[in-house]
Amino acid sequence: MNPIRGATRERLQALRSEIEHHNHLYYVKDAPQISDAEYDALFRELDAIEQAHPDWITPDSPTQRVGAAPLSDLASVTHRLPMLSLNNGFNDAEIEGFDRRVREALDAEAVDYACEPKFDGLAVTLAYENGRFVQGATRGDGYTGEDVTVNLRTIRAIPMQLPVERPPRLLEVRGEVLMLKRAFADLNARQQARGEKSFVNARNAAAGSLRQLDPRLTAARPLTFFAYGLGATDGFDVPDSHAAVLDFLAEQRFRVATERRVVRGAPGLLEYYSWIGGMRAELPYDIDGVVYKVDSLRQQVSLGFVSRAPRFAIAHKYPAQEASTVVEGIEVQVGRTGALTPVARLRPVFVGGVTVTNATLHNEDEVRRKDVRPGDTVIVRRAGDVIPEVVRVLAEHRPSDAPVFQMPSRCPICGSEVYREPDEATSRCVGGLVCSAQRKQALRHFASRRALDIEGLGERIVDQLVERNLVRSPADIFGLTVEQLAGLDRMGPKSAANLHASIDRSRSTSLDRLIYALGIRHVGESTARDLAHHFGRLDAIVTADEAALMNVPEVGPVIAGSLVHFFAEAHNRAVVEALRNSAVHWPEGEPKPIATSAQAAGRSFVITGTLPTLSRDDARALIQAHGGKVSGSVSKKTDFVVAGADPGSKLAKAQDLGISILDEAGLLALLAARDD
Ligand code: IVH
Repeated sequence: MNPIRGATRERLQALRSEIEHHNHLYYVKDAPQISDAEYDALFRELDAIEQAHPDWITPDSPTQRVGAAPLSDLASVTHRLPMLSLNNGFNDAEIEGFDRRVREALDAEAVDYACEPKFDGLAVTLAYENGRFVQGATRGDGYTGEDVTVNLRTIRAIPMQLPVERPPRLLEVRGEVLMLKRAFADLNARQQARGEKSFVNARNAAAGSLRQLDPRLTAARPLTFFAYGLGATDGFDVPDSHAAVLDFLAEQRFRVATERRVVRGAPGLLEYYSWIGGMRAELPYDIDGVVYKVDSLRQQVSLGFVSRAPRFAIAHKYPAQEASTVVEGIEVQVGRTGALTPVARLRPVFVGGVTVTNATLHNEDEVRRKDVRPGDTVIVRRAGDVIPEVVRVLAEHRPSDAPVFQMPSRCPICGSEVYREPDEATSRCVGGLVCSAQRKQALRHFASRRALDIEGLGERIVDQLVERNLVRSPADIFGLTVEQLAGLDRMGPKSAANLHASIDRSRSTSLDRLIYALGIRHVGESTARDLAHHFGRLDAIVTADEAALMNVPEVGPVIAGSLVHFFAEAHNRAVVEALRNSAVHWPEGEPKPIATSAQAAGRSFVITGTLPTLSRDDARALIQAHGGKVSGSVSKKTDFVVAGADPGSKLAKAQDLGISILDEAGLLALLAARDD
């Protein structure tokens, strides 16, 4: 009997809990105990069992965390117990007042409080029925939220099954979905490299990622979850203190703040506040305060609620990293792709540890929405390493003659027309490389470290080269003489010679750097790498149509369209030619034939087992490059099964269905068969 086909439900369950155990060690504890390869092996075994027994697949299986099919809207969910808000305290006196009221109401001399950070994310409630995650919802208005179950399933820090011995009929876990600061910085760097918009802060990024109709997008975002309490329960012996509830949640594999403490009385609260305040910058996530809760749940019940907030808890906020200042003007900056960004020039103000002199206003709609005008007094905020932003206008301080902001109809730099796509927020200068602002940015990008890496060719020098009309397009850089460079401001003969040498060195580059350096919209570093790898030669990319481009993994219609559009422009092709004529060179590989195999094009392939030389990803890419499709499971529609060592159930199924089976050599032979 095939071991996979003969696998039992016990093995399935054992694998699922083992994988969830390792998810917990990796995603919650940051302390993995097995290698990626060992983890993958467990995952593959589970996947194989589920493929052999599709009726055993349940939504809480670890294999289902990659994101289900898109939804048409987010359904609304009525909370069993409302998700209330907290009253805030901003200074010692308000906290002492809170403690006094609690003591008086309880008739107690001193009260113990459970203290924890106040996470700056998005509140959600997670329902577990008989230990299984069944539904999750956002807070919404506190009474009704949005059903984001399928999105929450993609968050590895959320357990799909609770390891509790006797699972309660219902256990609602409440907490906050957020993005860790590091993950947020990485995400923004990736967004920028791809030419996509960056997020203003981790909270917005987390909220935008969770409230998605396409769970696959959520799955691609580095979200995590911290638990801070319980909602409704049924059949559950609730512990008698909040601290014990949090310990229980930690045992159930939830992430719980390690900085949680139980303290006594107002002095204990204020000490906790200073302690967390001192480490705020080093915490891995953003917080906007700390939360104090009466620790005893019996005492919590007796204190109860006033209107929409508990009497037993309070949030103690840190002074916002906000300050007010005056907008001295609104300038419009022109980016590399011609995008016009309004920027508020501010009277310098010290906020969040630095002096801020300008703040992005993002785009025309954003300026309208906030109605920011020159002369306005505004609140600016700085959060972590994030770009300062204008939070709101203090309308009462507006000078009577403050003009409404208008996006210019002509580029402020080159005078070309400004164009805005009907469904885009961004206005763009259509000047292309005629526009000196775009030229400067394009050249800075071309010379940057990850592009041609021309050491010493920084912003100040590029600006001068463009302003003196010494460089109009990238190839002009290679015609610069040492004398011309030495003639620039603050450039000695030694640095001119050094720069000249580094320009010379950069002539020898690689295809992926060159593609990235061209600054094609939507083509970041990793897409450039994929294109170079797939096509081998620049000419193959220049002449590829959209369908051919979309054979490259990760290249969809937007990127493909952008590439075709770019190379359709004669002046862009001229730039490439001029670079070649300036002796810029890179090794070129053999182009991979595209859809030339009559036997592969349009056919459906399934890969199983370990192939002798090709990795699974390579085999998939190769098949796709020849116009074939690769799917995960064998069905009557499968044309070929490519089987390597330890093939598992897919091979058996293919044999049952009489499907052609290939080994690696057979696959390569099939792909090599041309139809001409
Ligand atoms: S306890 C009855 N604990 O703050 C409300 N809330 O203003 C109990 N929040 O939207 C909430 N960190 O999502 C609690 N450690 C924490 C929290 C926390 C963040 C959020 C919560 C809610 C808001 C309440």
